[in-house]
Amino acid sequence: MASLFFFFFFFCQLLSGLGRSFVAGAGQVPAMFVFGDSLIDPGNNNHLLTRAKANFRPHGIDFPEGTTGRFCNGGTLVDHLGYLLGLPLIPAFNNPDTHGIAILQGVNYASAASGILNDTGENFGMRIPMDEQLQNFNATIQELSTMLLDKTQDHIRRSLFYVAQGSNDYINNYLLPLSKIHYEYTPEAFTNLLIQQFGRQLKYLYDLGVRKFLIVNISPTGCIPNQLAAQESDTGACVESVNLLVSHYNRKLKEMVDQYNAQLKESTFLYWDAFSFGINVIQNYANYGFKNQNTACCGGGKWKGQILCLPVFTPCQNRSEYVFWDPYHPTDAFNVIASKDLYQGNLQASFPRNVQQLVQS
Ligand SMILES: *[C@@H]1O[C@H](CO)[C@@H](O)[C@H](O)[C@H]1NC(C)=O
Ligand SMILES: *[C@@H]1O[C@H](CO)[C@@H](O)[C@H](O)[C@H]1NC(C)=O
Ligand SMILES: *[C@@H]1O[C@H](CO)[C@@H](O)[C@H](O)[C@H]1NC(C)=O
Repeated sequence: MASLFFFFFFFCQLLSGLGRSFVAGAGQVPAMFVFGDSLIDPGNNNHLLTRAKANFRPHGIDFPEGTTGRFCNGGTLVDHLGYLLGLPLIPAFNNPDTHGIAILQGVNYASAASGILNDTGENFGMRIPMDEQLQNFNATIQELSTMLLDKTQDHIRRSLFYVAQGSNDYINNYLLPLSKIHYEYTPEAFTNLLIQQFGRQLKYLYDLGVRKFLIVNISPTGCIPNQLAAQESDTGACVESVNLLVSHYNRKLKEMVDQYNAQLKESTFLYWDAFSFGINVIQNYANYGFKNQNTACCGGGKWKGQILCLPVFTPCQNRSEYVFWDPYHPTDAFNVIASKDLYQGNLQASFPRNVQQLVQS
């Protein structure tokens, strides 16, 4: 009984503004909930039957927590953004410890190889598609409401929702050599399908009471070592056809975000242009302190983009000189720079405001 009392006391502290000062880093939002793919997966696939997992060395080689399932030598973009927001590392939904107090500052549902569409990423095995990530969030709300009672809706309304999906719908679906959907849909029709499904998914969150959205567009997919190898870039220059395809998607996504900002009452959709940011870093990599912008630090084959980063490979010596960690994912060094752009924003890459302003509103 005493411990139960303490538990509720702790909560009231946490919920009141007063409590903020004793939460590490003084959180600017009560929580961050995260949806997406391997770029931000903190280990949700660790126990799934899939090739899309990273819970072995050398992944995590530069991460304070070591190997966790993150596809990176260090922290993901979400980890670094969370740090700037004063939040602890957001736990993976599939981690058995992610219950009770552990879910109060957010949950991460992102799953490697997943996409907007249910069948995206099948080539890797099991993964948690976006629709299932949303169902998992609904389960979290049920659990939150057993603790927060009538404060649950307010908690959701003030929390930040980071949603970054779509890359795999191209890389691990539409662009695959034997893609069925490639024959059934023109690029235009496929983009429309994705936008329509993604729009429905965002609306689902809105209907559950979410009001602070951070939508991240598809990064320059044509520049990742995997695509340089798959589309046979001889020089290591980005594959323009792939970048054009995702740019078209991004334009449609931006239109939808603008529309939702206008239509969905009392909500804010922030749109971070990860594509323009990524292109800028790759084109001017030396200005950002990088020495290599097209070969993976860890991987095999051409541009080290043909074989995933596996324990048999020795990674590059100095990870902060590389933009790419493995065939698909950037390094910790890149993520640190990106998180600052995302948080503080700049005129080119952030619309309508930056994350700092969004969380303070
Ligand atoms: C995707 O699969 C889930 C079941 O996991 C189902 O509820 C949902 O309707 C499916 N989505 C579509 C678009 O078929
Ligand atoms: C959320 O989960 C509850 C309880 O399982 C269920 O009754 C409800 O239909 C779900 N809501 C949505 C929008 O999926
Ligand atoms: C790694 O590379 C960065 C950027 O070029 C440089 O500042 C740093 O000194 C290097 N570290 C080591 C251990 O060589």
